Amino acid sequence: MHEHLPDGGMIRKLWISETDAYRGHLLRLDRESRHRRFSGTVSDEFIAQHAGTAGELGVLVHGFFVDGTLRGAAELRSLGSVFAREGEAAFSIEQPWQSHGVGTLLLERTLLSARNRGIKSLQMHCLTENQRMQQLARKFDAELSFDFGSVVGEVDPPRSTPLSLMREAAADAHSMATAILDVQSRLFNPV
Ligand SMILES: CC(C)(COP(=O)(O)OP(=O)(O)OC[C@H]1O[C@@H](n2cnc3c(N)ncnc32)[C@H](O)[C@@H]1OP(=O)(O)O)[C@@H](O)C(=O)NCCC(=O)NCCS
Repeated sequence: MHEHLPDGGMIRKLWISETDAYRGHLLRLDRESRHRRFSGTVSDEFIAQHAGTAGELGVLVHGFFVDGTLRGAAELRSLGSVFAREGEAAFSIEQPWQSHGVGTLLLERTLLSARNRGIKSLQMHCLTENQRMQQLARKFDAELSFDFGSVVGEVDPPRSTPLSLMREAAADAHSMATAILDVQSRLFNPV
């Protein structure tokens, strides 16, 4: 998968054991980004509780890591049962890494995963003033349709194909290899 990420960055799915890293990332969001991510003001306790659910069935989080630290995330949740046809996606990128194309890559990965999980309707709630998120969603307007107030996307086509499954598997394999090399290089070259 051809990706242009900021230096030292990589995208991969979070492991079930990484809810602490997810909590740390969400807590590091600046005030405005936190407000936008959760469409309102939320406490640290709320965030800790929310992050704790990231390992549950029906939740998939793609993470953007820089030198091993989680700096951005895209959360995909099935709405209803694990095999629900509806899902919800939410994005968070720490301020220094915003507007570097990371959100675009995370949305691309999330759409592929949603499609491969049979999700037909994908909701993305965002505040009306959140132009950047709306701009980002519009980049995928071939695959998404919009509603007012909150951006509500329809994943199209709704069914996975052998090619879309292969694309996700290839991205996972590439991410796993990169993650292993990343850990090794940090073990052998501690800062
Ligand atoms: C919204 C968010 C996910 C976007 O991710 P990002 O990595 O910053 O966005 P990208 O760099 O991929 O840019 C996506 C598009 O947004 C637009 N954009 C980028 N920076 C912008 C800015 N400063 N102002 C307005 N629009 C901007 C551009 O159209 C861009 O596409 P282009 O570069 O191809 O022209 C990220 O900024 C973020 O986490 N914000 C705080 C939390 C949030 O708002 N979450 C969304 C609600 S769930």
